Amino acid sequence: MKKAVSPEEVSRLCSSSRKKGKTVGLVPTMGALHEGHIKLIRECRKKCDFLVVSIFVNPAQFAPKEDLKNYPRTLKRDILICRENGADLVFTPGMKDIYPCGFETYVELEKLPAHLCGLKRPGHFRGVATVVLKLFNIVRPALAVFGKKDYQQLAVIRKMARDLNVPVKIVGVETVRAKSGLAVSSRNRYLSSSELDNAGILRKSLLEGKRMASSGASGAAIKRKIKGMLKSSRGRVDYISVCDRETLEDVKEIQGKALIALAVQVGPARLIDNIEITGAVRKIQKRK
Ligand code: PAF
Repeated sequence: MKKAVSPEEVSRLCSSSRKKGKTVGLVPTMGALHEGHIKLIRECRKKCDFLVVSIFVNPAQFAPKEDLKNYPRTLKRDILICRENGADLVFTPGMKDIYPCGFETYVELEKLPAHLCGLKRPGHFRGVATVVLKLFNIVRPALAVFGKKDYQQLAVIRKMARDLNVPVKIVGVETVRAKSGLAVSSRNRYLSSSELDNAGILRKSLLEGKRMASSGASGAAIKRKIKGMLKSSRGRVDYISVCDRETLEDVKEIQGKALIALAVQVGPARLIDNIEITGAVRKIQKRK
């Protein structure tokens, strides 16, 4: 496994792999790798010949109040995890490699960030879209892999790639969960053991929402039910949304594919989760 810090070296290594007919795959991360990232790396490994994992804690996606300084940094361990899971190249750029002096060009989506987490995190998705496009331009991967846990991020990246004609296939990977159903996240480390147990209700409420959708319940009824169930998490609900999978706009009657997404503040951690749902399709009887 190779390691590189400079974008030029990474571009050179990737382009030489492409010339040999290899498919380049990318897993962008901010490090502090856990089971969720390992699944992304393994999925990408299966789909490409030259696997690049990037590790860069991106300041542009942190709001001024969010704690960039205290973001966990475990680089040595991360590099080991990349090696054990079959990465060919780990890209660990420094700040100036990504944001050189005088940097002033950002990628901003007009509508998608105005939903779900974007409402509480102004500028976050601008930072994500900008750094991911830069990584795409450096690596020029045929495919890039992201987790469905951050569903809005996945939707933003898909849309950005489509809108800007970036020739990359975006692959979404299912969320890794603890036994309780809680989605694995670097934020779970801030929860006490009783908070961790209580947080299992997030998944249970989403499963109940999915069941209700398939038997024809409306978005409003699903949200009411989930809100009631989340009371037992003793968390503060930030949002519960029943929405379109691409635009993330609210849907009232669920007729086809949709999404339930939620965010709950449990103790010191803001937990997010979601579930893909399919509404009961109403058959329109044709008159003879
Ligand atoms: O999901 C993350 O870890 C980050 O948002 C990403 C996609 C690596 C961009 O910094």
